[in-house]
Amino acid sequence: MEPKCVVFANQKGGVGKTTLAVHMAIHAHNMGFRTLLVDLDQQGSSTFLLTGDADRHQTEAGTALDLWYPNRKVPVQVSPIFGFDFLQASAALDAVDDDLDPAIRALRRLLVVDSGQGPYHVVVVDCPPAPGVRQMAPLMVADRLVVPVTPDALGTQGLASMIQLGLTQVRPVNPKLELRVLINRLKANSPKNRAIAQNLHDQLPEFVLPDDLYEREDVRTGLRLGKPYWEVCRDAGQQDAWYQTFDGLLEGVEGDEAQTQGVEVDAPDNADEILAQQEARRGEVMS
Ligand SMILES: Nc1ncnc2c1ncn2[C@@H]1O[C@H](COP(=O)(O)OP(=O)(O)OP(=O)(O)O)[C@@H](O)[C@H]1O
Ligand SMILES: [Mg+2]
Repeated sequence: MEPKCVVFANQKGGVGKTTLAVHMAIHAHNMGFRTLLVDLDQQGSSTFLLTGDADRHQTEAGTALDLWYPNRKVPVQVSPIFGFDFLQASAALDAVDDDLDPAIRALRRLLVVDSGQGPYHVVVVDCPPAPGVRQMAPLMVADRLVVPVTPDALGTQGLASMIQLGLTQVRPVNPKLELRVLINRLKANSPKNRAIAQNLHDQLPEFVLPDDLYEREDVRTGLRLGKPYWEVCRDAGQQDAWYQTFDGLLEGVEGDEAQTQGVEVDAPDNADEILAQQEARRGEVMS
């Protein structure tokens, strides 16, 4: 079984790609799924959040760049802060931006790489804030594209072209790609923000996720403490919105059989009746 691949991309910077990709990976890991986060941004922001080391990406060896070399193994590491696996960024990742085909081959390796305990259940990709090979190639292998947007005039710039890219260039080649728009950093006291968010829900109901995520200092505080926002926040409404959002993004992710066997199934209310009927039928056949 191949992992589900969820890609966070938007050419607009600062909309929350990294923050939300890391939350996605935390939630998947907490749910017991074997999870791999891939940092394709040469700025290495998620590599920093996962390691606490701001210079970690200043190297080429042992980074996501190795995906481009089929004879090198995929250098997965474990986040000492969050406990899930990741593939770190390299400041030299822009060296691979000329050719799409090798990039698609490189990223396909993510779907077959072994975690050591079997294939991953979920692969989360954090993309750089620029259109190009490292945004396009992940979409070619992805099951789900999440486009974070901030509900302001600048933040929604580029959304139309992201949707266009997904629908007209990627879907014909990768028909399984689902598109999701996630409103993030909404300033609760800004009527303008609220109006733009409402407009997005009205205009793009098939893509925009139901819950808006607010701009909250606790988001940053949580990540500094190695915790998702819903574990540190003081707002029940937003706690629910964040949890539901990431839970929804896990839809369709399948764990091991052993995991699903553990799920308890309630007997139907009329179980006795069904059993009695079956018993009676058994009698019929026997006689
Ligand atoms: N809901 C939120 N509330 C408060 N701060 C947030 C929220 N989402 C993101 N941030 C903060 O906004 C900044 C930009 O977020 P982030 O780095 O996740 O965006 P990005 O889209 O990955 O940026 P880049 O384009 O540079 O890769 C960060 O400082 C992050 O902590
Ligand atoms: Mg980022």
